[in-house]
Amino acid sequence: MTSKIEPVRTVKGMRDLLPPDTDLWQRVEAEAHRIFAAYHYGEIRTPILEETALFSRSVGADTDIVMKEMYTFQDRDEESLTLRPEATASVVRAYIEHSLYNQGGIHKLYYIGPMFRRERPQKGRYRQFYQIGAEVLGSESPLMDVEVLEMLVLFLERLGLREYQLLLNSVGCPKCRADYVKSLREALQRVKASMCGDCQRRAETNPLRVLDCKVEADQPIIEKLPKIIDHLDPECRQHFERVTSELQGRGIPYQVTPRLVRGLDYYTRTTFEITSGALGAQNAVLGGGRYDGLSEMLGGPPTPGIGFSIGQDRLILAVQAAGGLKSETPLDAYVVWMGDNALPLAARLVRELRAQGLSVEIEYDPMKIKKAMGVASKLRARFAIIIGEGEISTGRYQVKDMTTGQQREIEPGNIAAYLKAQL
Ligand code: HAM
Repeated sequence: MTSKIEPVRTVKGMRDLLPPDTDLWQRVEAEAHRIFAAYHYGEIRTPILEETALFSRSVGADTDIVMKEMYTFQDRDEESLTLRPEATASVVRAYIEHSLYNQGGIHKLYYIGPMFRRERPQKGRYRQFYQIGAEVLGSESPLMDVEVLEMLVLFLERLGLREYQLLLNSVGCPKCRADYVKSLREALQRVKASMCGDCQRRAETNPLRVLDCKVEADQPIIEKLPKIIDHLDPECRQHFERVTSELQGRGIPYQVTPRLVRGLDYYTRTTFEITSGALGAQNAVLGGGRYDGLSEMLGGPPTPGIGFSIGQDRLILAVQAAGGLKSETPLDAYVVWMGDNALPLAARLVRELRAQGLSVEIEYDPMKIKKAMGVASKLRARFAIIIGEGEISTGRYQVKDMTTGQQREIEPGNIAAYLKAQL
């Protein structure tokens, strides 16, 4: 009797990314590297595992992320570790740990990598997802907020995205927030009995979090709650006005969205999200904002900061929906050989072409010419190069342009140059 072996599958909410999709992922990343370089950001790579306290202190102990979504475990020495649910806290930790503030000036850092949140999986929402993010440390200027937003808009446009909305808000500073939270708390006392269980709890522990409740029935109640934008102190109001007037001046459309307090506790002043209609329920392509108190919360010196994280999985979905960049793994040439004598010559040619940077494929099992040409078309090779007895004796190989059907005989040493001239 044979027992059937159950195949092992990916963990729920986690997925494999395969070619040709990964080609699109790479091109999006290449575009990100280019734009970050243009705006003078340097790459930072932080560990995926961090001490749990890093996130409870920064993201906030009463947020959904920390309360419900983190992958936290005890290491063998009892230390509590967490798979990073986001990277801003790690970047600020690194900024403090390496005393980057001693170098003075502004630090602009970016990262690309996986994050982990144990959310309910659905389209555009995964338990391992990827972020392309950037953080600016050391500038309080509203013009830096605008520079960050301008860079984002340019990036999205380069990827062929047009249908998106920039939502903007200010959550003020701890001073004006205290005043706002007081009136929010009072308003909630009157209505919380008819809200969901989470909101009833948040009304006591962290009233701001009520504003990002997603429960349908709570929405009309939330709409009528006091708005933080009406409680900003003069400095925060001035900061926000400078951001909006400068955005107008640069022709960047935005929509002030008073409920946008974001699901993490570290924000101050400017907060923003960009949403895309192409994405369905999980429509936030990216989110970010200012976090002027975060460095101090993590034991560092006072340092203003602003940044964003793009959900790369969602960005890719939006790019695909917009029909911008196409995913493909381009193949410049497929080499077809016939007969044992042709194989070493074919293998040598493939090596030479690849060394010249061309993308080339060969198969090492013998095949009839018709089948081999079929493979060349299936792989969408631009050229097929054919080497058989006839070609060996003339010393010239057949080079067929698969798009035009045109065929030429070319000496092996000249093939790379010919292909490059044609591609
Ligand atoms: P966040 O809003 O929590 O912000 O996440 C940013 C983006 O990551 C979201 O807009 C979304 O596109 C993507 N994202 C979040 N969760 C998932 C998920 N489960 N599956 C797929 N995509 C997801 C932050 O993480 C902050 N660190 C942003 C920031 C940087 N603020 C200042 N600097």
